Amino acid sequence: MSDVAIQLQDVRKVFTPQQHLHTSLKEALFSPIHVLRRARAARFLALDDVSLVVERGETHGIVGRNGAGKSTLLGIIGGVLRPTAGQVQVVGRVSPLLELGVGFVPDLSGDENAVLNGVLLGLRRREIEERLDDVIQFAELEAFRRQELKTYSSGMQSRLGFSVAVHADPEVLLVDEVLAVGDAAFQERCLDRIAALRGAGATILFVSHDLKTTSRICDRVTWLDQGRVRATGPAAEVADQYLESVGSQGTSLLDRLARPAGEG
Ligand SMILES: Nc1ncnc2c1ncn2[C@@H]1O[C@H](COP(=O)(O)OP(=O)(O)OP(=O)(O)O)[C@@H](O)[C@H]1O
Ligand SMILES: [Mg+2]
Repeated sequence: MSDVAIQLQDVRKVFTPQQHLHTSLKEALFSPIHVLRRARAARFLALDDVSLVVERGETHGIVGRNGAGKSTLLGIIGGVLRPTAGQVQVVGRVSPLLELGVGFVPDLSGDENAVLNGVLLGLRRREIEERLDDVIQFAELEAFRRQELKTYSSGMQSRLGFSVAVHADPEVLLVDEVLAVGDAAFQERCLDRIAALRGAGATILFVSHDLKTTSRICDRVTWLDQGRVRATGPAAEVADQYLESVGSQGTSLLDRLARPAGEG
C-alpha cells in the first residue's frame, strides 16, 4: 500500500497587491464602489482549484511557464503561504523554502544562518555544527561564511538554503529552481544529493525549467498553466506535452516575426 505525503484539494490562492489598495480617506468616503472595484481588479488568482496527490517516496516535478504558480504552490506546501481556499495536507518534516529567504536573518553570518536554520529544521545544535563545514563547502561559500547574509547575492543565498535543507535529512524536500543558481559542478552536487535523499525514501517536489533533468529524475510531473493543473502523469509524458505547447507557441511567434507585416 502506498501512502500519501502531500495532498492538495481545490487549492486557490489569491494575491492582493497592497500598493493597488492605497486609497485616500476622501475617496473611501465618497466613492466606495470605485475603491472596491479597483481592489477587486487588483486581485490576482495565482492558483485556481489545484488538486494534487504526491505519494511518499515519490519525486514529483512541477513545470509551467513564468508566473504559472509553481513557487506559490511550493510556498503553500512549505507553509510559508496560506491558501485562500482549499485543503493542504503534508505528512513528514518539510524542508523550508529557504530559497524564498524565509528563515534567513540578514544581519547574521552565513554560518549563523546555517546553524539557525538547521535547528529550525529539527536538528540538534551539535548535529548542525558538526555538518556546518559540509554545508558551507557544498554551497561553495567558504570565503563568505563569516560575512553577513545581506551581503550575499540571491544565488548565494539560494545555494546556502538548499545546502542546509539537504543536510538536514528532510522527509519532504521542496526544490525551487536550485539548478539555475550554480555552476555545472554545483548542479551535479545538487542532483547527487537529491538522488541520495530519494534513495533514502524522501518525498521530493522539484520545480525547474530544465525539462530534461525534470523528466530524468522525476517519477511524475504536474504541468501548471496560469494557476491551473493542465496535466499530471508520468514524467516524460507530461514534460513532452508541456514542451510541445511551449514549442508550438515559440514557432508561431518566430513565424510571425519572419513574415513581413500584412501577410497574415
Ligand atoms: N506576493 C505576491 N503578491 C502578488 N502577486 C504575486 C505574489 N507572489 C506571486 N504573485 C503572482 O502570482 C503569479 C504566480 O507566481 P509564481 O511565483 O508562483 O510563478 P512561478 O510559476 O514560480 O514563475 P517562475 O517560473 O517565473 O518562477 C505571478 O503572476 C506572480 O506575479
Ligand atoms: Mg518560481
